[in-house]
Amino acid sequence: MKYQKPKGTADILPPYSKEWQFVEQKARETFALYNYEEIRTPMFEKFEVFSRSAGDTSDIVTKEMYDFDDKGGRHIALRPEGTAGVVRAFVENKLYGPEHQKPVKVYYMGPMFRYERPQSGRLREFHQIGVEAFGSDSPKIDVDTITMAMDFLSQLKVAGLKLVINTLGDQASRQQYRQALIDYLEPYYDELSDDSKERLHKNPLRVLDSKDATDQEIVKDAPSILDYLTEDAQKHFAQVKEQLDALEIPYVVDSSMVRGLDYYNHTIFEIMVADSALGKGDVTICAGGRYNGLVQELGGPEVSGVGFGLGVERLLLLLNEQTQAALQASRLDFYVVGIGEAVQTETLKIVHELRKMNFVTEQDYLERKPKAQFKSADKLNARYVITVGEAEMQAHVFKLKEMATGTEKTLSLDELKDIKNDLK
Ligand code: HAM
Repeated sequence: MKYQKPKGTADILPPYSKEWQFVEQKARETFALYNYEEIRTPMFEKFEVFSRSAGDTSDIVTKEMYDFDDKGGRHIALRPEGTAGVVRAFVENKLYGPEHQKPVKVYYMGPMFRYERPQSGRLREFHQIGVEAFGSDSPKIDVDTITMAMDFLSQLKVAGLKLVINTLGDQASRQQYRQALIDYLEPYYDELSDDSKERLHKNPLRVLDSKDATDQEIVKDAPSILDYLTEDAQKHFAQVKEQLDALEIPYVVDSSMVRGLDYYNHTIFEIMVADSALGKGDVTICAGGRYNGLVQELGGPEVSGVGFGLGVERLLLLLNEQTQAALQASRLDFYVVGIGEAVQTETLKIVHELRKMNFVTEQDYLERKPKAQFKSADKLNARYVITVGEAEMQAHVFKLKEMATGTEKTLSLDELKDIKNDLK
């Protein structure tokens, strides 16, 4: 039997795992500047946590869930996204309580699972870096969240970013718009795709998002949500735009943009990149928005939320295509070469001491001849090579060679400790 990874999953191998660490590190640094802290929640939750939040008619819940009954008969699902679990944790741990500074701002990174058709940049196990901020109704936090995502991507030098925003308004706006949309679409009922027919009354906004060509033609002249906003919703969106302008963050408004998850209202946004290796047209690498009713939906008080999720695989595909520079050659400080069997323990000791001094150090583990060891040192790009033979061992010294200059000297471990700062 030949074992293979499950369809839609990937092994992240060295040295590419370095790119992941680099991206994660940059995210941590950027989010820290905005005073976000890390939250870690389970990779699986009760199925209802997702069905209640993402929405019963969403593709994520109806088609893409990795769900099963566990041995105790509980209906469990692997998380398809991060927001629902974080909201569940927010409510369960009463993070809305007075002892927590508002807004509560958290970030997370980790695997998510969706049973989708795998293709470039679309996997069944994929990774998101996400953030959520709870407890502020101010448009300022919408803008802060968007700015943070843009900052993070510019830090990584991703080129060709396009920020697209829209509003879904508040509940009253949504209700009015929903009816207007149904009234507009009903005469076209017979021409709509099967998916859209089903969504027409359950969730007509999703018809706007259809990939079907006839549907797209029909919705071209559909009414715009922007004409159905209540005064409050209008004001909120106007402020978001004004503040983005003030920060000189370019954006476009796409009033037909809806999101695949049902929990959003007010501001929604996507950050896209055009013409990439990921596919033709625009590809979304980061998406999010405001979700004011979700905390209540999962049993908490009336606390608003806003956040985004960013696809790490997509980001790395882009980075590799655009810069090919995210990956830096790994570099070793020391390689310790032992000559002869008698020095095995001595080299082990020297390596141990060097690592205690914070030097990245490597040695031979395959009992190879000195020549092969020197070759490894070269391949691994070692800055210094230490050589120990029996004579050196007796004299408690070793040879130290700086590879860039070829200078060599003989010294003891204590002498090396004395000059260690010069070697860094
Ligand atoms: P989402 O739009 O479903 O939103 O996913 C966010 C990002 O995750 C996408 O833009 C994409 O980059 C990446 N992504 C989604 N599915 C896949 C896949 N199958 N393979 C690779 N990458 C994928 C959310 O998940 C929301 N929780 C975002 C959010 C947070 N909204 C508020 N807070």
